Amino acid sequence: MKKKPYALVVGGTGMLEKVCHWLVDQDYFVSVINRHEERFQEMVKRTKQPAKQPERFHPLTLDYHDGETLQSKIQEAVSEHGVPDLVVSWIHSSAPEALPIIMKHCETRTEPWKLLHIQGSSSFFVKENTPVPENCQYRRVYLGFVVEDNQSRWLTHHEISNGVIKVLQKDYKETVVGTLKPWHKRPG
Ligand SMILES: NC(=O)c1ccc[n+]([C@@H]2O[C@H](COP(=O)([O-])OP(=O)(O)OC[C@H]3O[C@@H](n4cnc5c(N)ncnc54)[C@H](OP(=O)(O)O)[C@@H]3O)[C@@H](O)[C@H]2O)c1
Repeated sequence: MKKKPYALVVGGTGMLEKVCHWLVDQDYFVSVINRHEERFQEMVKRTKQPAKQPERFHPLTLDYHDGETLQSKIQEAVSEHGVPDLVVSWIHSSAPEALPIIMKHCETRTEPWKLLHIQGSSSFFVKENTPVPENCQYRRVYLGFVVEDNQSRWLTHHEISNGVIKVLQKDYKETVVGTLKPWHKRPG
């Protein structure tokens, strides 16, 4: 039997919940990095296909600031489920070592794998270079904001997930979800 594609999602119990459900609909097995196991269980319960879900999701409950634990739990997940085909990463800038640790494991694949790297609005203006392994298909998503009726607000979880799903479907290389212009109108 053909092995299911495997995705690792950071932020799947928050803004990327709908992305996790969509990935399962696309027949992925999904590991979700999170801190709160109960939030993970709630996220799994909110699926459209309850019968399919429990065995399609796997919690990796840890704090991504703790490099040693991240390293060992990813190692365990890779031994059990293989090296991910897809990583969707929403990691706060307070943990700069977390994504490189994840990438180190993906580097061991012989086939290409995809990284969807989600970054906050202000990263757009820094345009930092993210070094990735040779076999990585790098896709970058900047989170913007929404201007409506002359007022601005941050994106909802739903809008963020829909934007990320579109990037996965269309395979865009670099995308802004929402807008970053005019910058002075960003929410306070
Ligand atoms: N436009 C922008 O630049 C921008 C940037 C950031 C945020 N925002 C807005 O702010 C809202 C909330 O942002 P948020 O960052 O709180 O996102 P979130 O996606 O709601 O929550 C953070 C996610 O990351 C996980 N997580 C956080 N810290 C972790 C850690 N140390 N170790 C492991 N997992 C960790 C959380 O897991 P647990 O569920 O277990 O806690 C959760 O899944 C978004 O809806 C967005 O609209 C906008």
